[in-house]
Amino acid sequence: MAEAVAEGIRAIQGVEAELTFHVTPEELANYNAIAIGVPTYHHDMTVDIKNLFERAALKNVNLKSKIGAAFGSYGWSGEAPRLVSEIMKNRFEMQLLESPLLVKYTPDKVGLEKCRQLGKEVAQKLITRTHGSTNTSE
Ligand SMILES: Cc1cc2nc3c(=O)[nH]c(=O)nc-3n(C[C@H](O)[C@H](O)[C@H](O)COP(=O)(O)O)c2cc1C
Repeated sequence: MAEAVAEGIRAIQGVEAELTFHVTPEELANYNAIAIGVPTYHHDMTVDIKNLFERAALKNVNLKSKIGAAFGSYGWSGEAPRLVSEIMKNRFEMQLLESPLLVKYTPDKVGLEKCRQLGKEVAQKLITRTHGSTNTSE
């Protein structure tokens, strides 16, 4: 899913995407937009993501007004992307895309296309913010 999101971001000219599984709280501040992929385990986000937020909050990492998005695969309840989205919005005052993207278990072609679409939306929001228009070419 994360690879497809990054692909969607890169499809928009002028926007770069870095896909990483390891990021420090301080490094989050280096990006204009942050899309977090997280599966739901035991009705919750995974411990690594929770720790990342805890440490970012403790260190007062400033993510205010950065563009945020959350996505994730789930089995039956799918809380994690919603929780992540709420934390990015309420604790870190980021600007979230409307709703988190949930895909049941392993994404099929349609699920992957939704991920690409999410990436494009993130990139377009960045372009709009930077240039004040949606003048993009794919
Ligand atoms: C131990 C365990 C607990 C899980 N708990 C939940 C849950 O509470 N809610 C849910 O929607 N899915 C739950 N799932 C399903 C996972 O979210 C689903 O398998 C997802 O595709 C896992 O993504 P991953 O393969 O990237 O880890 C659980 C799976 C496991 C193995």
